[in-house]
Amino acid sequence: MKIGLISGSLRKDSFNTLILKYIEEEYKEKATFNFIDIALPLFNEDLKEVDQVKKAKEIFNDMDFIIISTPEYSYSFTGVLKNYLDWMSYQNDLLSTRKISIISASMSILGGSRAQYQLRQVLQGMGVYTLSRPELFITEVHKKIENNVLVDEKTKKQIDKLIEVILTI
Ligand SMILES: Cc1cc2nc3c(=O)[nH]c(=O)nc-3n(C[C@H](O)[C@H](O)[C@H](O)COP(=O)(O)O)c2cc1C
Repeated sequence: MKIGLISGSLRKDSFNTLILKYIEEEYKEKATFNFIDIALPLFNEDLKEVDQVKKAKEIFNDMDFIIISTPEYSYSFTGVLKNYLDWMSYQNDLLSTRKISIISASMSILGGSRAQYQLRQVLQGMGVYTLSRPELFITEVHKKIENNVLVDEKTKKQIDKLIEVILTI
């Protein structure tokens, strides 16, 4: 199974990226993981033939499954992720065949829940398949990562359950 990994954060030491790196390392024997670069030009229909955009859409369409982990910015998911999704949804014949699971990780006690619910609504609007259970909100993520490694056992077990379900799809 080819699984695309998308972090909603471009930050070098992003907690969301670290969560996805944990998944990549932990389950590398069970699936092929590809980190997807979402830093595309600001959406503009005039740029639809730009190589970077065409290539990004090919990669998106080539994945069997995609896991998005996003932080919460101002009560929503990040603008860079919305921009990417706008591009992926634009004139994409394979959109309805895409399958996506959402994780959110934030330093707050809500674990980016507002971002996650809004992202779910957008993905449903796009008509992609979204995995609804298990939900995974990683609260106070900064306390669960040490030296850039996920150390929280409860979160690891929650991730285990999520990946187990994804691998059966
Ligand atoms: C512009 C901005 C807005 C933010 N707004 C929220 C917010 O509404 N809710 C929240 O829980 N955290 C908010 N945060 C904190 C981020 O969730 C936190 O910095 C998180 O670690 C960023 O994710 P990353 O580590 O993957 O880059 C905000 C951070 C930034 C930079």
